[in-house]
Amino acid sequence: MSFTRRQILAGIAGLGVVGLGAGGARYWLGRVAAPKTHDYELIAAPLDMELVAGHVTPAWAYGGQAPGLELRCRQGDMLRVRFINKLPEQTTIHWHGIRLPLEMDGVPYVSQAPVLPGEYFDYEFLVPDAGSYWYHPHTTSAEQLGRGLVGPLIIEEREASGFKHERVLCLKTWHIDAQGAFTAFSVPREAAREGTRGRLSTVNSVSIPTLELPAGQVVRLRLLNLDNTVTYRLNLASSDVDVRIYALDGHPVQPRPLGKEYWLGPGMRIDLGLKVPEVGTELPLRNGPLRLATIKSVASSEPAAEWPAPLPDNPVAEPDLSRAETLRFNFEWAAALASPADEAAGRYKYWQINGQAWDINDKTCADRPIATLKKDGHYIFVLRNMAQYQHPIHLHGMAFKVLDSNRKAIIPYFTDTYLLGKNETARIALVADNPGVWMFHCHVIDHMETGLMAAIAVV
Ligand code: C2O
Ligand code: CU
Ligand code: CU
Repeated sequence: MSFTRRQILAGIAGLGVVGLGAGGARYWLGRVAAPKTHDYELIAAPLDMELVAGHVTPAWAYGGQAPGLELRCRQGDMLRVRFINKLPEQTTIHWHGIRLPLEMDGVPYVSQAPVLPGEYFDYEFLVPDAGSYWYHPHTTSAEQLGRGLVGPLIIEEREASGFKHERVLCLKTWHIDAQGAFTAFSVPREAAREGTRGRLSTVNSVSIPTLELPAGQVVRLRLLNLDNTVTYRLNLASSDVDVRIYALDGHPVQPRPLGKEYWLGPGMRIDLGLKVPEVGTELPLRNGPLRLATIKSVASSEPAAEWPAPLPDNPVAEPDLSRAETLRFNFEWAAALASPADEAAGRYKYWQINGQAWDINDKTCADRPIATLKKDGHYIFVLRNMAQYQHPIHLHGMAFKVLDSNRKAIIPYFTDTYLLGKNETARIALVADNPGVWMFHCHVIDHMETGLMAAIAVV
């Protein structure tokens, strides 16, 4: 395979960040005169941040901020991003949840050669689906994502949705100590269990921020879990708040109440509609019992808003279960099999799929796909978690429909990531309509890096 798009950075070293629609628009108002195409120059570079007051954290950032610059594009348009690597090491960008051609998927040695320090790469693809997505590297992920290389990618509906206000809330729990210094992004003992957790929980990099929202309005809250490890158990503490789910992982659902709590695993997103209560009300947005942010309602001169209509469906092909072929995937804990010699050499393999552990240091793993699907074939995957730790199972390149589970009631919906609970078996279905070699992995980053990844070919 040759990677002709790879280019040497020459003469553009001084460029800053240029982005249409970029920056901190806090209240999102439907933009009538939105341009038809978006062009961004996105630089990844070290950035000293003050996550802990009075202390410096040596983060890595996209577009001078972590979480990274918010990228926006309209559904059906071309997204063109010139990515410039000013990090001390090689990297790539993967566009999580976007159905795109393999060459744009950002997986090293499968989609493209890694982008070396000082080089740039032009990503360019059509975005078929509206919704809340994100981007991140697919190289030395525990450290690169851990240091802050994660960013929101918002695809606006082709026709303006009924929401006049929105907020993008990026959740991340930083692996830093009380002085802001990074702690280990992956500890073997933790990688073999639930994954290595950070310590400082943040929303848009602020610990327990106050979010001011206009009273009486319905605000779209786009919550993105950009963390390496943590599953956020989202709730608003009070049962009389009117908050409804509008989309899961980018894809619209029939609006329904948030309910008691929603478990948002690493890589997952949820779009909520919140009817902001009367002026002066303070609501905690929480992870289980822990406060993530305070929502404060402030005066608004606009007339009280009605609930927006459901968001229009994305054009995802509907799998036909009557003619689907069934494939089984067992996710197993294999830590007991890890050899001391491997561990001594820093090769940790604690997890496997159907008896195969991905070797993060072997560039040829994707040459041995765990399954080969026929282009345009219909498939049911039976996902079986044989361990007591949960895994957010993610597929590149295609959306899939969650059908059912032996653990909970499911209203079938399309997604790119399913949080497979402990010892759960779930069924998903898809039409294999995107040719390529697609990563299929757990999004707990240190599970992925210690074996829980495979390639699925569509030919
Ligand atoms: Cu968020 Cu392999 O992806
Ligand atoms: Cu992905
Ligand atoms: Cu996992």
